[in-house]
Amino acid sequence: MPARAAVILAAGAGTRLKSPIPKVLNKVGGRTIVDRVIDACEGLGCERIVVVVGNHSPQVRAHVAARLGEGAIAVQEEPLGTAHAALAAREALKDFAGDVLVTNGDVPLIEPKDLEPLFQLREQGALMGIVGFEPENQLLYGRIIRGADGHVIRIVEPKELTADQAAVKACNAGFYLASREDWFRWLPKVRNDNAKGEYYLTDVVAMASEEGLVRAVFAPESAVMGADTQMQLSAAEAVFQERRRAHFLAEGVAMPAPGTVHFSWDTEVAAGATIEPYVVFGPGVTVESGAVIRAFTHVEGARVRAGALVGPYARLRPGADIGEEAHIGNFVEVKKVAVGKGAKANHLAYLGDGSVGPGANIGAGTIFCNYDGFDKYDTHVGANAFVGSDTALVAPVRVGEGAYIGSGSVITSDVSPDALALARGRQVEKPGWATEFRKAKLANKEAGK
Ligand code: UD1
Ligand code: MG
Repeated sequence: MPARAAVILAAGAGTRLKSPIPKVLNKVGGRTIVDRVIDACEGLGCERIVVVVGNHSPQVRAHVAARLGEGAIAVQEEPLGTAHAALAAREALKDFAGDVLVTNGDVPLIEPKDLEPLFQLREQGALMGIVGFEPENQLLYGRIIRGADGHVIRIVEPKELTADQAAVKACNAGFYLASREDWFRWLPKVRNDNAKGEYYLTDVVAMASEEGLVRAVFAPESAVMGADTQMQLSAAEAVFQERRRAHFLAEGVAMPAPGTVHFSWDTEVAAGATIEPYVVFGPGVTVESGAVIRAFTHVEGARVRAGALVGPYARLRPGADIGEEAHIGNFVEVKKVAVGKGAKANHLAYLGDGSVGPGANIGAGTIFCNYDGFDKYDTHVGANAFVGSDTALVAPVRVGEGAYIGSGSVITSDVSPDALALARGRQVEKPGWATEFRKAKLANKEAGK
């Protein structure tokens, strides 16, 4: 089996998306499109991956270099077309011997299993393999023109189509496989005398078919769809979400209204967990067995341990670690706080930076005052402590194990274990004051004052 490499084309202008973010940095399932394509190439065992980036989008370059290193970058100085982009990878692959997959960079849903058959075509003797599909709407795609025996003759781009060719249903998905030698023999020969004045990568297909056999494998549209417009991007997101929902249901996650639950690419939910309607998962979430995420909860960068109960209407932000059997209730926000086993914060609280010990009770309206406008500070509440409602804990501060804090306190210094801390005005009572007050007011009114 020849060694595998991949060239990912990610230097296009992406104008049809009308986005301030470069096309391939837009996200599906919370993961950038270019990362998703790199994931697929890695999954296929490509030992070299080159990403072609444009001068106009330094963000793409920085993003890819952070993952794969500068050696994986090839620069296309100007976006003159897909063949011109692929040629930019020549230098980076000059010492590579094997097959090179050239892939569009804007295919957010592609997975290794969809491309493995392409590599088999080469093993069966094709000089070049390509991937076709039959989309619902052909308008945006190149058409695959085949001979009577099914071999591929050429690809014709939408703007160059004759009326006959426009009726062809087989479209080009944007994945091409050939040997490195052949690629860099053909690519310099591509010309730009066409309707768009671009160097079309698809012209290489006609060159290959003059020399040998070009064959196509077909994939479902949901696997190979592009992301050129916001409409396509949202359609890709919908497909991704459906896949994750089906996956988790099959795994044994209880989800009474799966169509309302939104996952990220890396969400982990164990069998035996329950996800109620209208829950949104940002990246970096793990939910363990027996945990229940109640309706209208937003979770990102958080761990919810076995048997914990979160929501309804809770918000877990990065670094929230909700312990076994703990309860986080409505309108409670938790950020960078480890909540111990069985601890409870059932209503209206902000817990930011620090920890809550096992068995502690956080009353309604408790705030960890963690920020002074410049720096963040920690609050630690000890095991089995009881924090009364409407307490402001001004960090840095520690509440000892088993301590009580009276409601309405503003706690600015550490509280000793098992102590009661009260930090609020003492109640004053004036007997009969209200009666006298009302009497005086009514007398004034009657006197017309
Ligand atoms: C391309 C194919 C078309 C196919 C479709 C599938 C060509 C000429 N056409 O069209 O047959 O049906 O994909 O989705 O290839 N890019 C560069 N540099 C450039 C131009 C593009 O790197 O100068 C990159 C883009 O970032 C993108 C990819 O190449 O990731 C494809 O370019 P795009 O403009 O999306 O091509 P399509 O019009 O979709
Ligand atoms: Mg495209």
